[in-house]
Amino acid sequence: MQRFTRRKSPTLRKAATIENLFPSAKALSMIHQAALLLLFASLLMNFSGAASTAAQPPATSVNKGQAANRTRPTASRKPLLIAHRGASGDAPEHTLAAYGLAIEQGADFVEQDLQITKDGVLICLHDPELSRTTNVRQVFPERFTKRDAEGKGTPKKGWYAVDFTLAEIKKLDAGSWFYQLNAFAAADHVASVALPKTQQLHRIPTLQEVIQFVRHRRGLYIEVKDYEYYQALGFDMVKMLAAVLQANGYATAKRRTEIFIQSFSPAALVKMKKLAPQYARIQLLPMEDPQRQDTAQVTAALAKEYAAYAQGVGPAKQMLKSATEVEIFHAAGLLIHPYTFRGATTAMLRKPLEEMLSDHSSVRQNLIADIQHYLAYGIDGGFTDYPALWKEAVKATKP
Ligand code: G3P
Ligand code: CA
Repeated sequence: MQRFTRRKSPTLRKAATIENLFPSAKALSMIHQAALLLLFASLLMNFSGAASTAAQPPATSVNKGQAANRTRPTASRKPLLIAHRGASGDAPEHTLAAYGLAIEQGADFVEQDLQITKDGVLICLHDPELSRTTNVRQVFPERFTKRDAEGKGTPKKGWYAVDFTLAEIKKLDAGSWFYQLNAFAAADHVASVALPKTQQLHRIPTLQEVIQFVRHRRGLYIEVKDYEYYQALGFDMVKMLAAVLQANGYATAKRRTEIFIQSFSPAALVKMKKLAPQYARIQLLPMEDPQRQDTAQVTAALAKEYAAYAQGVGPAKQMLKSATEVEIFHAAGLLIHPYTFRGATTAMLRKPLEEMLSDHSSVRQNLIADIQHYLAYGIDGGFTDYPALWKEAVKATKP
């Protein structure tokens, strides 16, 4: 694992291994045990580095070189399926359980959001603060601080990742919150059935652990989160990320197309272009820039601006009012990967997919229709919490 000290050269350390990952699951039903064993076998092969058919690169868009050919987007190419925080509709976001499920469901890329620990390790976590998705309040009740992670000038009380060492963060349960809120999801999915027996699947993973788990099976779609916030704390997340990717062999011509770098911060992408230009960069929109009010609207001038340092854009899907906006981005040579396809559900308020809505459609039907709606505009891919439904939507739209 690579640890980084503030404003010092990064030190390469031995990669961490996850031990005791698969305790016995004797309390499970026969069906669940069989399914769980399949997932465990897959995980074991990845952590041990064993060669297997499952670990071979799939015939996905990663290998077909969509990222490499990114300057000439066409609507005819198979749209990229990006598992948003893993299969986060079905398992707790940014856990190995969610990443494993995303791979099982056929995602081309698995998304990571990055945060940084007190001792300088990149971890996969959406919020800069730990309490939404872990039991940090119970484990470290006195360890809250006040920080202004959003840069709004108003520090907020919270349990911020940057105030905890990796060893402390590894004590946290990052899965139970999800299953407590979404019991219906737990009933259906392998990744959930063994809780608390599969605790290691539900810890916050480091980027290094995720690389070891995912690499060569699917691509990584990594978001530089809260770049300026961490800069002010003495960490350069872009520099740290580039070093981790380099150390893991992704800088080579063979592997670079397995990586997308995304950020709401244009400064982060410009820095990445300078440090490691070989990875495709995606500007998320609207930009995270208090000086810019104009980036929520799609114009040819803005598309040209993004194309100067990025290969694509990741707009909030609501910014795409019609195929016209997609054409504007394509005309500038940009890929378009909008976020987030999850219907009426959110991370905190999932709905059972079979639940009927007031218009007599189900949540599932609604979600598939939403994906198809945007696919028809000619997007090049999209972020979804439900990779399996994305595949259904694509299949149903084939001529
Ligand atoms: O990165 C694309 C999408 O994930 C942006 O939203 O807040 O889920 O990171 P967020
Ligand atoms: Ca993200």
